Amino acid sequence: MRIGIFYGGSTGNTALIAKRLSELVNTARLNPIANIVRADLEAYDLLILGTSSWHDEGDRLQSDWNDAYDCLREAQLEGKKVALYGLGDQIRYPDAFVDGMKALHDLAVAAGASIIGKWPDRNYDYTSSAAVEGDYFLGLPLDVENQDQLTEQRLATWVSQLQEEVGIT
Ligand SMILES: Cc1cc2nc3c(=O)[nH]c(=O)nc-3n(C[C@H](O)[C@H](O)[C@H](O)COP(=O)(O)O)c2cc1C
Repeated sequence: MRIGIFYGGSTGNTALIAKRLSELVNTARLNPIANIVRADLEAYDLLILGTSSWHDEGDRLQSDWNDAYDCLREAQLEGKKVALYGLGDQIRYPDAFVDGMKALHDLAVAAGASIIGKWPDRNYDYTSSAAVEGDYFLGLPLDVENQDQLTEQRLATWVSQLQEEVGIT
């Protein structure tokens, strides 16, 4: 299975997590989202998409993803799986916690992908998030500002979950 990690962030946190994920999933290729073309996305069977959230940018995506918006919108992802992770700060932005994952989720679904790696919303302290459906986030939220002591365990558990969901070990 071809696995690609695509990430866009503004101050380095999403990139650091992408690097850690590439160590945990050592067959995965690491791709900064800036400057990709549509074919780069279509080259994988499982795409792990990471973004941070930037409330002040309204409902737009994080800026690297904003530039890649059309690529993702036009990509043919039928039969492919997409897993999302999102960086956010639940104390400073409790009403918009990891909202950025929602936009990526909707684009990936519209492009034909099926979403894996949903994550229970227990053990977070937030008020509202666009990236929640029922009791589950659409992907893995990480908050390195307030809960960094949980990051490594969350990543390890999530990677095992993804491997189980796609049937690889
Ligand atoms: C101006 C600004 C706006 C932010 N808006 C949000 C937000 O709406 N929701 C959220 O969960 N986190 C928000 N954050 C927190 C960032 O998403 C968080 O710091 C993240 O780790 C940054 O990752 P990056 O370095 O990869 O961009 C904001 C941070 C800043 C500085």
